[in-house]
This record gives sequence, structure tokens and C-alpha cells, in this order.
Amino acid sequence: MSGPLLDVRNLCVRYGGICALEGVDLTVEAGEVVALLGANGAGKTTLLRAISRIVETDDGSIHFDGTDLGRVGAPKAVALGIAHSPEGRRVLARQSVRDNLLLGAWTRRDNDVAADVDVAFTRFPRLKERADQPAGSLSGGEQQMLAIARALMSRPRLLLLDEPSLGLAPKLVREIFAIIAELHESGVTILLVEQNASLALQHADRGYVLDAGRMTLTGPAAELIADERVRQAYLG
Ligand SMILES: Nc1ncnc2c1ncn2[C@@H]1O[C@H](COP(=O)(O)OP(=O)(O)O)[C@@H](O)[C@H]1O
Ligand SMILES: [Mg+2]
Repeated sequence: MSGPLLDVRNLCVRYGGICALEGVDLTVEAGEVVALLGANGAGKTTLLRAISRIVETDDGSIHFDGTDLGRVGAPKAVALGIAHSPEGRRVLARQSVRDNLLLGAWTRRDNDVAADVDVAFTRFPRLKERADQPAGSLSGGEQQMLAIARALMSRPRLLLLDEPSLGLAPKLVREIFAIIAELHESGVTILLVEQNASLALQHADRGYVLDAGRMTLTGPAAELIADERVRQAYLG
């Protein structure tokens, strides 16, 4: 397959009369980590939700591995290989850690799901220790790990991460980014939304900046880190 794994063109999303995204273009190549930056309310979550087919789009197109997602619903998007670790984690609080992981594999029809639970427990030892506890009893950082591990259970070709470090203590932020680096290393393709622009760009190949629903800047991560506009707005 030539061309980008994800190809978003001229995307427009409205909530009622309000335009949350307008004329948005974005590509992600297989194997890349791409950072999506922007202030609160810029439309980052909306863009991830459009890609994973949770919100309807009003104009433009999204192609994933050449497939037009225009008529594709959220379950089919997961089956095609798009996994979404949502803002706020959204784990099932009363279900066990293990059951939350199994839930991430619900579209799969192969026999390797149990083996992949073990893979998740190897990658996230804290989750293994708490396998049979309700997810709601985990700390914020552990719930974030569970949300990422659950997304990986679908064996995605594209992982959408929405604010994985939000609200976490510095030590856990480092752990989450170490996991992102490890996933990158192993070839997982990631679109990463982050408040922590500096850490996100340090871990990304390229970046985009959304401002009030429009893409205002894009480039290699190293160039964005050095860009005066990015420094002033997002890197303090
Ligand atoms: N379900 C919704 N209904 C109406 N407006 C929404 C909804 N979700 C988000 N918005 C609005 O769309 C804009 C973009 O929001 P969002 O995508 O959550 O931004 P970000 O993730 O960058 O903070 C904001 O103005 C927000 O208030
Ligand atoms: Mg958001």
C-alpha cells in the first residue's frame, strides 16, 4: 500500500451550528508517531473522535490504508485497525482489569487473545498485579496504562492516544512516555494528543498544531520544538 496510513483531507466537523474543525488536513505514515498539539478547545479530541468514527463529519474525507471511512462506523473502524485510548481513560470501573483488557479485543476472531493479555501484563507489570481488581480501584496512572493496554488489545495498526499524561504525577508521566517510546520502537503507528507539548514533540517524528479548529502549523518535530510560535504558545 503506497500513500499514508491515515489521510485526513479538508475535514469539517460541526456540533450544531458550531464549527469544531474546519478544512483540516493531516497524514500519518505507517510507523510514525505524530503529535497533535493545541490549546484547550482547539478540536484535538474531536479530530481523534472523527478518525475513530465516534463523531460524524460534515465535510472532507478520512482514508485509512486506502479505505474511505466515510460510511464506516466505530466498530468497523476498530476492526480495520484503529484503536482509541480516549481522553479521561474511560475504563469500566466495576469490571476487572483483565475484563477491561478482554473488552479491547472484542472485534477479534483469532485464538491469540489470551496470549495478548499476557503480553499486556508483561508490558504493564502494575496491571498484572491488579488483574482481578476492579479497574475503578486503580490509580489515575494505572487507569491510563489500562486504557492504552486495552486499546492495544485490538492489535491496532493505528493507535490514537488522547492526553495520556493528563493529571498524572511526573514519575507516571515518564512511565507513560517510556511506553510510547517502546511502542514507537516496535513499529506501532501513533497519533498522540498531548498537553505536554515538549514531551510529545521529543517522542514524535512530526507534529501538527490545531488552533480553534484549523491546522496552523505542521512539520518535523525537531523543527516545531525550535519554532518560536510553538515555543511561546506551548513550550513556555
Ligand atoms: N459533544 C459536543 N457538543 C458540542 N460541542 C462540543 C462537543 N465536544 C466538543 N465541543 C466543542 O468543540 C470544540 C473542540 O472541542 P475538543 O475537540 O474537545 O477540543 P480539545 O480536545 O482540543 O480540547 C470546543 O469548543 C468544545 O466546546
Ligand atoms: Mg481534548
